[in-house]
Formats: sequence, C-alpha cells, structure tokens
Amino acid sequence: MATVIIGSQWGDEGKGKITDYYSKKADYIVRFQGGNNAGHTVVVEDKTFKFRLIPSGAVSGKKVVIGNGTVVDPEILIEEISELEKEGIPVKLYLSERAHVIMPYHKLQDSLEESLKGNLKAGTTGKGIGPCYQDKVGRFGIRFVDLLDKEVFKEKLSLFMSMKEALFRAHNQPFRLTINEVFEAYNKYADYLRKYVTDTSLLVNAALQEGNHVLLEGAQGTHLGIDHGIYPYGTSSNCVAGAACTGAGISPLSIKQVLGIVKAYTTRVGTGPVPTELEDEVGTYLRDRGGEYGTVTGRPRRCGWLDMMLLKYSHRVNGFTGIAITKLDVLNGLETVKVCTHYMVGNNPLYEFPASMKTLAQCNPVYQEFPGWRFDPEQVAKSGFNALPEAAKKYINFISHQLAVPVYVVSVGPARHQTLILREVFS
Ligand code: IMP
Repeated sequence: MATVIIGSQWGDEGKGKITDYYSKKADYIVRFQGGNNAGHTVVVEDKTFKFRLIPSGAVSGKKVVIGNGTVVDPEILIEEISELEKEGIPVKLYLSERAHVIMPYHKLQDSLEESLKGNLKAGTTGKGIGPCYQDKVGRFGIRFVDLLDKEVFKEKLSLFMSMKEALFRAHNQPFRLTINEVFEAYNKYADYLRKYVTDTSLLVNAALQEGNHVLLEGAQGTHLGIDHGIYPYGTSSNCVAGAACTGAGISPLSIKQVLGIVKAYTTRVGTGPVPTELEDEVGTYLRDRGGEYGTVTGRPRRCGWLDMMLLKYSHRVNGFTGIAITKLDVLNGLETVKVCTHYMVGNNPLYEFPASMKTLAQCNPVYQEFPGWRFDPEQVAKSGFNALPEAAKKYINFISHQLAVPVYVVSVGPARHQTLILREVFS
C-alpha cells in the first residue's frame, strides 16, 4: 500500500522529520515532484542531515526513489550521495530515467526571469526549478534517459543551448556557457549516476504488488503548487497528493492514506500575500524559537498565526486521512495563541481561500483566541500525549475538529524521539 505525505501550507512544515519516522516502517520512500528547491532537515542523535533531493528516509538505509515527476540537478544529487556514503550509510537509490535534468542554463534563466518579473517575482530558490519544468512542458527538456545516451544528449544539448543563447542575447545578458564544457561536465555526472537510473514506475508498481509499504514524500506545500498554490508566487510543480500518481507512475487506487503535515503556525519564504503574517515581536518569537530560516537559501521565513483557510483548502484538494501537527513546542510561552478561521475583505466575510492574489492581499484575518501553554518537550516525549497541557490539547483538537480529520502525530521538538505517535499509517 502507498501513503502520501503532503505539506498543507507553504512548505517547511517539518515533513522531513515525519517522513523519517514513517520511513522506518516503509520499504520504499519516493520523491515525486520538485527538486533541490526542497530542504529537509533530519536530526538523528547528534547529527543533522540536510537533504534537498534524496528522500529523508535514506538516513534509515531504506530504498529511496526519485520519481519521474522530479527535476534533478545531478551535481547536487552526487553531493548528497557522497555525504551519505561518508557517514557510512548505504545508498539504495533508484532514479527515474524519465526525470528531467536541471542544466546550468536553467539556473541562469531562473535569475534572469526573476529580474524581469518585477512585482510578480516569486523569490525563487534560484535552483533552476521553474525553467526546467518550463522546458519539460515545452518539450525542450533533457531526461536522464537522454543524458545517458551521448549521441541523443549531444543533439539535444546543441539545439537547446543555442535557443537559450538567443534568449539571453535578446535580453542583452551574457551567456558564457559553451556546449563542449557542459557536455563534458554532464557526461561525468551521467557516468557517476548511470547505475542508479532505471524505470522507477516499474519498480514501485512491482513493490506495491508484492505488498510492500511505499511512502510518497511530497516536497514544498499545497499552497506553493502550480495549480493550487498562490500563483504566480509558488513553485512550478504540483504539490498535492494527486501529483504522487503522475510523479511516481502509480495508480490513484494504490494510495490508501494521505497524511497532511500542519505546522502549528504559518511560515512562508518568498513573496506574495500572507494574511496571518506577524511583523511584530510575536513573529520574531516564532522565527527565533522555530529556527525559521530557509534550509536551502538561509532566508528568514515570514511567520504568523495558523491559518485554517489554508488548511481547509489543502484538505479539499488532498483529502487528508490524517494530519501531523509539527513544532507545537515553538508556541510554548505565549500568553495567547490565535488561529485564523476566515477572512474579511472590506465588510464581507470570506470562507474559502481566494484564487485572486489581489483579493488575498486585501484579506484581513479573523482570529479565534486560545490561552497559551508551556510544556517541557522532553517530559512530554517521555510521558505521551496526555502529559500535554490542557490548553495545548484544546488547540490540537480545534484543528482536528475544524478539518474533521484525525491527528496521527504531534511533534513537540526537533529530535526524533520528541514525536508523539497517536496512529500509525502502515498497519
Ligand atoms: P522555486 O521552487 O525555486 O521556483 O521557488 C518558487 C517559490 O517557492 C519561492 O517563493 C520559494 O521560496 C518557494 N519554495 C520553493 N521550494 C520551497 C520549499 O521547499 N519550502 C518553502 N518554500 C519553497
């Protein structure tokens, strides 16, 4: 059976830690969208791992898959493989032959386009994600199956690089890449990665048929997705449960559980309206206590109160069977904790998340207030859910009732053991 883990907000919900927990019970862990714009931090004992491409489950020595729906920077992937090997962790990686390759010109194009977009820029991670997906959809992409065939690769590279050169020339921008240099460098990557490249859809389907547990690890979050996110400020892939089917090459019928990861408050790294953003000392409190700085870019994240409008929309398009609430401990010590239940646009209440960014920018959050709490994460980790203060339990139950979705996990600290498991996804 397959379980999908999805970020319910703007990414950075703490998916890595939850995936890491469930990956211990899974046989395969699969990435199905995004690329090295993602950043997962996993803390194991005193060691912190920061992954961008490889599924977090790799730390547990599990079989990990990078599916066809991803875009992969081979240089970064090789770095991550080497890092794991240095730690003595065996890398059981399968890379889809259909995944698209991020090329050096994609990264240049990423910053060129950001500079041209003015107020519409997303504040991208600059990793070439958008341009690589553009080329995929435009059918100018290079897949791993192409990269591994020198002849095909050379033909495509020559054609596409001259198109890119023309693009840069049209904008009076320098384009210092040469076909030969890129060809040489990428041939080396191809030789290194060749042994990992395969038909991962075949592999994952066979695994499912044999009764294995497959964990599909979403990157970013629902509200960053190309269809359901804050367009045009989000990313270029779909970040919802449905994308797991196209991005891993499996049937929707094989997905039995969809676990939504809900950070106990809101964060956003990048541009665009964030209705519950706090530009005051509470926002700073959340940022400092939560270590809210981008894993990939190091940028400070914009912080604010939990927003049920985001979560309700996420639940609608993902169909969560359960939720995991993360970083509850970060709210420790606040006198009052607020949750946005709906928005006001002028004098009109709004109960569904708007598609228009103009409207979103005009939304004023309406809050329900909760008394704050303080707990010792270590003690709660030892004694379990019931050891949480009543106020914290009330907060958790409110979220669960609003969505009518059970809580599977509550994370009360960054360490692996500071995770309260209320329900398992794999029986
Ligand atoms: P891109 O994915 O690099 O094109 O960036 C597009 C937008 O998505 C930017 O606002 C990024 O900050 C945001 N973004 C991309 N990946 C992540 C992530 O993993 N977590 C949070 N924000 C992300």
